[in-house]
Amino acid sequence: MCGIVGYIGTQTASGILLEGLQKLEYRGYDSAGIAAIWEGEIHRVRAKGKLQNLQEKLANWQIPAPIGIGHTRWATHGKPEEHNAHPHTDVSGRIAVVQNGIIENYRELREELKAKGYVFHSETDTEVIPNLIADELQKLKAIDSKVSLLDATRQAVNQLEGAFALAVISADYPDELIAVRQQAPLSIGFGQGEFFCASDTPAMVAHTRTVLTLENGELARLTPTGVDVYNFAGDRLRKYPKTLNWNPILVEKQGFKHFMLKEIYEQPGVVRACLEAYLDSDWTVESTTSPIRLGLADSFYENLEQVQIVACGTSWHAGLVGKHLLEQLADIPTQVHYASEFRYAPTPLMPHTLTIGVTQSGETADTLSALDMEKRRRSEMGSKFAPKLLGITNRLDSTIGHLVDYLIDTHAGIEIGVAATKTFIAQLVAFYCLALDLAYRRKTIPLDRLDQIVTELRQLPAQIESILEVQERYVEQLAHEFVETQDFIFIGRGINFPIALEGALKLKEISYIHAEGYPAGEMKHGPIALLDAKVPVVAIAMPGLVFEKVLSNAQEAKARDARLIGVTPMDDQEAREVFDDLLPVPEVEELLSPLLTVIPLQFLAYHIAARRGLDVDQPRNLAKSVTVE
Ligand code: F6R
Repeated sequence: MCGIVGYIGTQTASGILLEGLQKLEYRGYDSAGIAAIWEGEIHRVRAKGKLQNLQEKLANWQIPAPIGIGHTRWATHGKPEEHNAHPHTDVSGRIAVVQNGIIENYRELREELKAKGYVFHSETDTEVIPNLIADELQKLKAIDSKVSLLDATRQAVNQLEGAFALAVISADYPDELIAVRQQAPLSIGFGQGEFFCASDTPAMVAHTRTVLTLENGELARLTPTGVDVYNFAGDRLRKYPKTLNWNPILVEKQGFKHFMLKEIYEQPGVVRACLEAYLDSDWTVESTTSPIRLGLADSFYENLEQVQIVACGTSWHAGLVGKHLLEQLADIPTQVHYASEFRYAPTPLMPHTLTIGVTQSGETADTLSALDMEKRRRSEMGSKFAPKLLGITNRLDSTIGHLVDYLIDTHAGIEIGVAATKTFIAQLVAFYCLALDLAYRRKTIPLDRLDQIVTELRQLPAQIESILEVQERYVEQLAHEFVETQDFIFIGRGINFPIALEGALKLKEISYIHAEGYPAGEMKHGPIALLDAKVPVVAIAMPGLVFEKVLSNAQEAKARDARLIGVTPMDDQEAREVFDDLLPVPEVEELLSPLLTVIPLQFLAYHIAARRGLDVDQPRNLAKSVTVE
């Protein structure tokens, strides 16, 4: 996590850096800082807490430096205090560094540097880097007085272990900014006589859309006249920037109180865009091709016997829905793993396996590491075990885009609210499309059933719109009643069990209320002991295979005095009688219902958190892009 930015050009850097940091604040908001070079010195300002605090400190900062770096922090090593805030400088204050990532061998490096007389002022892993660069500069100068900041930085990064992205400046090299990437994202932006670097492109799109994404093991020297890219061995590389197809408006709130609310409202459009991209509008049961056009090469479909999904958090919940669909529609055995667990306890290798990584940021370190491990261990085996990796993401330009062989774009666009909403629903749509495509090709469901599902899928955007229209006011009012509640239980079964998990995760991450999701049938095996009048139970009860079962499980909760909230169709008399409060959704085929049932749960979490006066878009301790393992 953490966001880094850098600028070199002719304008005053501080304003541009602050603007960039605002767009990166979703990556971490424990502290922030900038450093710039002016009149032969490094000037640095840092502040604990949100970027706002740094902005206030900078209000009277009148240094027109045309080069600088900035950072917004998600604390890993060292508490979120000002002395741990980036940029960090070397002992002489001539070199400043911002870092995103973790330097795993920082303790050894720090001890070695301390023995040489370097003094440390923070508890961070990052502070070793400017000192290491200073040390390398000194060593190189002893051999050749014309040593460059690039060479010294290169020598230093070759000693670092871990995943990191860096931006480095030095008062002795006022026309150079060095950007480094090793397993943490970093892009370079090309303007007219000015250049940028940033952890993510929104930090630069106001100035340029010409962007080069650095690869792992690369470093770039930015000067006012251009950019050179090198590998860690020092070879100069030929690299070509790309033009981003981006609208900066997308990263504004557009009148909504929070990004999360705006993103909840974007969901019908996202589902529509994804369906338009992947459903063949001319398809009929007489057609001889699949109704789904994912644009995947033929090799993707060859020798596919099983699927394993790796993901984290909300994306893992999307993976659970994906498993249900792949197994029930396409008859493919599917396992879903927490990426952070899979990496250190991988399943035995099975032949002809598709590995799917699901991630909205495309940068989650656990997910990327799990995919990378799978790629490596399978590459060493025979062709039966050859790696086949598919990424499901809305960020094609991210690291997952470079790592996998096949990609499905979820068409959700960038999401700013830390709690995932529109990216989740888009991941679900991607899984529906994938499962239906495979079902067609493997002939696992009759064509008229396939046709029926595709037809109903097309109606979903309008149905989501109807939920948004009808429910917001009502959920807002209902939310008032739960402002003091301390525990919530969410229950669901079958394909809606992952939605119960997602409802609980949304609530806990933004409202800080303890919440658990359970398969409804499991309640009686222990968790029911938690229930009393103070613990509301939200039950997802959609007509279908498990409808009656969920209603019975809800009754069991009611018998223990729990207040029952039902996510269920409006006109179901039976459900109306069971629940104390209804969050109604249109009646829809059970298989498709997760695309509707998740919406009221997002609203509920949002309104409870907003009512509690919490920072919905930037909940405590979290970050949007989790780039540390
Ligand atoms: C919850 C949330 C997180 C992410 C998780 C994985 O609202 O957003 O649980 O789902 O950190 O992130 P991605 O999808 O970027 O891999």
